[in-house]
Amino acid sequence: MPRPTIARHDATHPLTHEAAEAVLALARAAAAHDGAQPLSEQFLLSVRAREHDGVEHVLALADDGTVVGYAQSRTGEAPDGAPSGELVVAPTARRAGVGTALLEALPAGIRLWSHAVGAAADAATGFAAASGLVPVRSLHVMGRSLTGGDPWPEATVDPRYAVRTFEPGRDEEAWLALNAAAFAHHPEQGSLRRTDLDQRMGEPWWDPAGVILVVEADHPDTLVASHWTKVDPPGGDVGEVYVVAVSPDHQGEGLGRAVTVLGLDHLRSLGLDRVVLYVDEENTAAVHTYRRLGFEDVEVHRQYARATSARPSDGDRTAHG
Ligand SMILES: CC(C)(COP(=O)(O)OP(=O)(O)OC[C@H]1O[C@@H](n2cnc3c(N)ncnc32)[C@H](O)[C@@H]1OP(=O)(O)O)[C@@H](O)C(=O)NCCC(=O)NCCS
Repeated sequence: MPRPTIARHDATHPLTHEAAEAVLALARAAAAHDGAQPLSEQFLLSVRAREHDGVEHVLALADDGTVVGYAQSRTGEAPDGAPSGELVVAPTARRAGVGTALLEALPAGIRLWSHAVGAAADAATGFAAASGLVPVRSLHVMGRSLTGGDPWPEATVDPRYAVRTFEPGRDEEAWLALNAAAFAHHPEQGSLRRTDLDQRMGEPWWDPAGVILVVEADHPDTLVASHWTKVDPPGGDVGEVYVVAVSPDHQGEGLGRAVTVLGLDHLRSLGLDRVVLYVDEENTAAVHTYRRLGFEDVEVHRQYARATSARPSDGDRTAHG
């Protein structure tokens, strides 16, 4: 295959509707071929939205205009403000330099996610090695049964607090403030804005009854902890520990464990079979909490950077993880 043509789109030159559909079809074909979604939730949402500030879409086009590869770069989420990205090549166009051409079109400091598993993970590893990329961050997918396995303990919540669920129109700003404070050091999660929350609240899986809040008993608008659970696709068998946040002022009180358990109770009450979650390898407190609640590793996602732009400490972090 001849070298593909590269086309760039951003907020001022948005993707056309047809191009966005072609990218989504490519992602579906890759997922069916590889057994894993190449684009994660936030990246997919941005393909659909087509014109997000700070998001660049890079398309690799064959001579006849077919989209044979896609990469997305997002600013301000990775450490040091480095852009983070995802990259996928159509299964029918691999080993022909398309991935290399896309990578060359991305910013030098890009942090590139690989969500691949099995043989596709080997392809990503081979591609990374050939392209001078080194792993800088690892995200663990952990899971457990909701119907069997070791039982989890009952939630104990101090009488200073009360438990209720999220009320749209009442809790948005307080939840965003709690999330920003709890994830001040987390590249993606801490930067969640009102538009991002609104976008999620418009998704088919959004269910306020699945967002458990621990509030001050005397000030029920003051959130101290939250566990946003998710069932995607709705009606499926698998639930997700989507976001657990504890206010920094109340960390160390056992609220993380309590609110996690409340969410597991909720997911079990829906009759689901399994629950999964995503956690940074270096978030040892969270990994420890989840292991003690019976979660085990299912797969590991890796983030790569060009060897020249990876800080020495990044490499160490992964090596000692
Ligand atoms: C990883 C991926 C992007 C590679 O795209 P590609 O267009 O096939 O890559 P290129 O043709 O530019 O390959 C460049 C080099 O990478 C290495 N490579 C690519 N695929 C490989 C594989 N399956 N096994 C081992 N090495 C591989 C080779 O050294 C290759 O050079 P060669 O073909 O001359 O031997 C593609 O397989 C893909 O879309 N995978 C799913 C999404 C994904 O994992 N993205 C994360 C990337 S970090």
